[in-house]
Amino acid sequence: MSSPAMDDRDGVIWYNGKLLPWREAKFHVLTHSLHYGNGVFEGLRIYNGKAFKLTEHSQRLHKSANMLAYELPYSVAELDAATKLVIAENKLDSGYVRPIAWRGAEVIGVSAKGTKIHVAIAAFPWGAYYEQQAIKLVTSRWKRPSPESSPAGSKAAGLYIICTLAKDEALVAGAQDALMHDYKGRLSEATGANLFLLINGELHTPTTETILNGITRQTVMELARKGGIKVVEREIWPDELAKATEIFLTGTAVEVQPVGSIDGKEYPVGPVTKKLQAEYAALVRG
Ligand SMILES: Cc1ncc(COP(=O)(O)O)c(C=O)c1O
Repeated sequence: MSSPAMDDRDGVIWYNGKLLPWREAKFHVLTHSLHYGNGVFEGLRIYNGKAFKLTEHSQRLHKSANMLAYELPYSVAELDAATKLVIAENKLDSGYVRPIAWRGAEVIGVSAKGTKIHVAIAAFPWGAYYEQQAIKLVTSRWKRPSPESSPAGSKAAGLYIICTLAKDEALVAGAQDALMHDYKGRLSEATGANLFLLINGELHTPTTETILNGITRQTVMELARKGGIKVVEREIWPDELAKATEIFLTGTAVEVQPVGSIDGKEYPVGPVTKKLQAEYAALVRG
């Protein structure tokens, strides 16, 4: 049985400071962000009734809005409290939280001057992101834009148009996700997760120039360094995939996810990936 549509569920959604019945959390079709892509959002996972790295996510929502030239009307502490409330009210022991902020329907046109900023937070059950123990990736024709062409560090809705195109093309090709290159042709990230390669016993990951600097990415780099693994952030070119002995993705939704193949070349689920996967699983539940 398929799960119910996202707009047709029981429960409550925090909406501009109030808890609304799930089906009433709506906005008008002339909402600015729907037309111009300037909503910003977050994704958090709930473990044992608590959102992991809650404050870091609330801070990033603020940063994303600031990069799109607006201020959220709620402080980080208010967003943290609202998230806790919504998890408790929906009685979630595990699941996912989706905070989103957007510009309202006060004006139409490219300029957003005069729009009000709205914020909503929804929380719902959500299991594993992929069904496979190790996933297949295919390289996408879509490239992550240069930071001069997009606010790369912002988790802005508009930036996901290429991710959705890349992901759906990868699914049609029989893979589980797409590996994206950036505007220079360097490796960047998957459509909703960051990329790590094990090369000569060291973990290599692309710099943050064109990617979202994942909170999971930062957590896993810390775990690796604590465990004595050298972590190198640098530009990485596609031909270096041939040298990698293990590859994995990191993200709130995907957690630490082994990659089993890229464009048909296979990679084993090796000991470093398994160790970091286990350590991350223990940390989030700790
Ligand atoms: C494009 C993209 N890259 C990376 C990530 C991983 O970020 P995080 O670990 O903060 O969830 C995400 C998920 O939010 C994403 O959408």
